[in-house]
Amino acid sequence: MGSPIFFLLLSLAFSFPLSSSALIAISNGTSISVEKPDSLISLNGDFSAGFYSVGDNAYCFAIWFCNSRTVVWMANRDRPVNGKHSKLSLLKNGNLILTDANKLNVWITNTVSLSFVQLSLYNTGNLVLCNVDGVILWQSFDFPTDTLLPQQLLTRNIKLVSSRSQSNYSTGFYEFFFNNKNILRLFYNDSGISSTDYWPNPWLTLWDTGRISYNNSKTAVLNSLGNFSSSDNLTFVSADYGAVLHRRLTLDYDGNIRLYSWEEERQSWVVSWQAIQKPCEMIPGACGANGLCSYVIGSGRKCSCPPGYKMKNRIDWADGCELEVDLSCEQNESGFLQLSQVDFYSYYGNDFGLFNNYSFDQCRDLCLASCDCKAFEYSFNEYYGYSKCSPKTRLLNGYHTPNSNGDLFLKLPKSKILSLLNPLEEFNLTCPGDGTIQSGRNRTKKFMLWFACGVGGLEIISFFLVWCLFIKIEKSLGVDKQAYDRAAIGFRNFTYTELKKATKNFSEEIGRGAGGIVYKGVLSDKRVAAIKLLKEASQGDGEFLAEVTIIGRINHMNLIEMWGYCAEGKYRLLVYEYMEHGSLADNLSANVLDWEKRFKIVVGIAKGLAYLHEDCLDWILHCDIKPQNILLDSTYQPKVADFGLSKLQNRGVLKNSSFSNIRGTRGYMAPEWIFNLPITSKVDVYSYGIVVLEMVTGKGPSRSVHAIDDGGEAEHKRLVTWVREKMKKVAIDTSLLEEIIDPMLVGKYDIFEMEALVHVALQCVEEDKDERPTMSQVVEMLLRQEKVSDVVIFDECSDE
Ligand SMILES: *[C@@H]1O[C@H](CO)[C@@H](O)[C@H](O)[C@H]1NC(C)=O
Ligand SMILES: *[C@@H]1O[C@H](CO)[C@@H](O)[C@H](O)[C@H]1NC(C)=O
Ligand SMILES: *[C@@H]1O[C@H](CO)[C@@H](O)[C@H](O)[C@H]1NC(C)=O
Ligand SMILES: *[C@@H]1O[C@H](CO)[C@@H](O)[C@H](O)[C@H]1NC(C)=O
Ligand SMILES: *[C@@H]1O[C@H](CO)[C@@H](O)[C@H](O)[C@H]1NC(C)=O
Ligand SMILES: *[C@@H]1O[C@H](CO)[C@@H](O)[C@H](O)[C@H]1NC(C)=O
Ligand SMILES: *[C@@H]1O[C@H](CO)[C@@H](O)[C@H](O)[C@H]1NC(C)=O
Ligand SMILES: *[C@@H]1O[C@H](CO)[C@@H](O)[C@H](O)[C@H]1NC(C)=O
Ligand SMILES: *[C@@H]1O[C@H](CO)[C@@H](O)[C@H](O)[C@H]1NC(C)=O
Repeated sequence: MGSPIFFLLLSLAFSFPLSSSALIAISNGTSISVEKPDSLISLNGDFSAGFYSVGDNAYCFAIWFCNSRTVVWMANRDRPVNGKHSKLSLLKNGNLILTDANKLNVWITNTVSLSFVQLSLYNTGNLVLCNVDGVILWQSFDFPTDTLLPQQLLTRNIKLVSSRSQSNYSTGFYEFFFNNKNILRLFYNDSGISSTDYWPNPWLTLWDTGRISYNNSKTAVLNSLGNFSSSDNLTFVSADYGAVLHRRLTLDYDGNIRLYSWEEERQSWVVSWQAIQKPCEMIPGACGANGLCSYVIGSGRKCSCPPGYKMKNRIDWADGCELEVDLSCEQNESGFLQLSQVDFYSYYGNDFGLFNNYSFDQCRDLCLASCDCKAFEYSFNEYYGYSKCSPKTRLLNGYHTPNSNGDLFLKLPKSKILSLLNPLEEFNLTCPGDGTIQSGRNRTKKFMLWFACGVGGLEIISFFLVWCLFIKIEKSLGVDKQAYDRAAIGFRNFTYTELKKATKNFSEEIGRGAGGIVYKGVLSDKRVAAIKLLKEASQGDGEFLAEVTIIGRINHMNLIEMWGYCAEGKYRLLVYEYMEHGSLADNLSANVLDWEKRFKIVVGIAKGLAYLHEDCLDWILHCDIKPQNILLDSTYQPKVADFGLSKLQNRGVLKNSSFSNIRGTRGYMAPEWIFNLPITSKVDVYSYGIVVLEMVTGKGPSRSVHAIDDGGEAEHKRLVTWVREKMKKVAIDTSLLEEIIDPMLVGKYDIFEMEALVHVALQCVEEDKDERPTMSQVVEMLLRQEKVSDVVIFDECSDE
């Protein structure tokens, strides 16, 4: 070791093809200033160290990955410096200091050396201050921020601390370190208000968590292959164990610790391990005080505010939500809004006590009488005949859950409750758990879905009064009644016995598909339901519930409503509304659909799919659009069925990329399925195009199956090509359009609509997915058509 290395470094500095602003090292007496875009670069070019912009005229001295600019370390996360006259200086005495524009020291290493010192960035991402003898005076690996890099030791007195939010790098609320019992764990510290361990699960014994506390060496390390091991016997390997370009273990701002790998192809970080699978239930403070957390597949958690509350800080969920209108202490001015399937939990008391055997009225009065009470939770156990009342002074750790203990009654000013129930007022409701603004006529329905509304104000009478008012407003606005019923009844968990009884021991089969068999049933409240018994139920309970509740929240007039589910033992059942007119496939073959109905159906399906793809829930692909999966209600309004099942059933399979074997139906499957290319929402667009062609031409696999021996695939290639060739001729002679059209329509159709429809359908079935429109573009094209075309009935007989 020693000076030869530095000579090597120095000579490399001159020979390495680096841009003028890149430095290999700085030595004593020199500095890096914020104005010049100088940065230190590791020899392999993977890491940079320099000034990193964290806000308007605010900079932190940081180390980041060059390829993604992902920060792995910061010197001054809580004290950013000015964009002018700030600098990092390596003093002659060996001290490294960061000074702000006003010459104040913001950060300092307090190192001393009598000999030559040098600061350089190693290939591992470690920023090291060495003296001429190769003695390390200081290194960034000893002072991590929120990230641990491969080979970086996590030892006693070292902790990872999350940042405050995705965009704010300052110190957040979560920490990862060895506690005094030698256990590596996650710890939540909300600036003194509360603090708790939350991972490994504090309710479990040490034995159950598989950790050991007798080894006090307190060391943990991640190797570059993706193996993490710790002296408390915590070990895990990443999902993509092996050599990948980059890995990092980061305690994210949301309190979850994740192992990321850099995926070169996609040029992005992917999660290859994470500590906590149920962020809403396990991570305290997820959405701040009064906030509500919901789990969203794929993207972790999302935050929202309860009704009557608004986000306190527009850009930071850590600050939670606050009341829109202050609560007065007057008892006669407050009421309650009932939130179902919402729970606020606490490790250390949200509640001012648990009151057993209180009646609902007593519980409510207790909360009304106390100014501090913000809500109460009430549950009644019919079986044991006792009730639980827990008034809450703080609303912490709120989350949506299908199995909350009881309903939550949120205290709000009466005026607010009335306005919340008045759909005429502008709401800014959020999509399930996400930050986007929802507008338009679905507002009211959304609201009801989320919060099965009821008011338990001072008296039950007021409850009914508002209830009736509610119905009235609903009716006057023509909002469909079903949505209201649904809100009143709620999405629920059925028992297996209940469903067995409803279906008379699964006697009346009404459909059968890849997912399972569908039975007709009558629920105890007399509603007729379609009950689907899922075939493959490999999923764990938690995952199934999480996903089913998300599907259950989806509400659109062109999507089948899910009323509930059952997950008992090996059984997984889904309960849907029953559709009177059966499937589109049956209706097409029975020849009961005239042109007007067909066009309405085509538009309806497009709207339903557009909603699935884009309006809130971009993660839902249907993946199996076909006439069998489109059901018609009593007015022939189409409703798409079976969505979300690809998520429910094939989660494991998806990873193995043999997804296409399970989901999708020959003839309707996009080329990318067959060639095992990435699946996007455009697969649904393709299938939709085929369905439209089928409705226009009357030709589909269900009718021509006898004509082919090799499955529907070849036939459909032919259908598409056939229509495409015909349409080329139609361009020259419009009357040829007739040849494409379903003879069952006997010439009764709108020729302009028809032509437009065929054009749209052909766009949808383009081989190249990027040429296909999105579903919302399809809706737009169709609606435009609906507007411009007058009703021109083309009648064969009156043609001459
Ligand atoms: C980050 O959060 C802290 C604490 O709330 C705040 O003081 C600071 O201004 C925020 N920084 C930015 C860049 O928003
Ligand atoms: C670094 O410090 C050493 C010892 O004080 C000194 O001999 C050397 O000249 C300094 N180098 C620079 C570039 O100032
Ligand atoms: C929690 O954070 C506060 C301030 O952020 C700090 O003063 C306190 O020491 C921390 N508590 C623990 C147990 O780390
Ligand atoms: C990971 O490291 C631990 C400890 O070094 C070792 O026991 C284990 O076998 C390793 N696992 C793999 C998959 O290499
Ligand atoms: C404690 O952990 C360290 C690091 O994982 C290991 O090398 C050592 O053998 C362990 N000691 C005991 C007594 O298990
Ligand atoms: C450490 O964990 C492994 C499983 O990860 C377990 O088999 C082993 O018994 C544990 N060791 C101790 C000492 O508890
Ligand atoms: C509530 O009661 C107070 C006095 O007890 C009275 O001044 C106030 O007008 C009442 N408010 C309403 C809305 O009835
Ligand atoms: C609540 O009432 C039930 C039925 O009267 C009784 O059995 C139970 O002991 C009571 N519980 C408490 C905590 O008072
Ligand atoms: C809804 O959002 C719009 C635009 O963002 C805003 O002008 C309006 O005040 C908001 N309404 C409510 C009730 O928050």
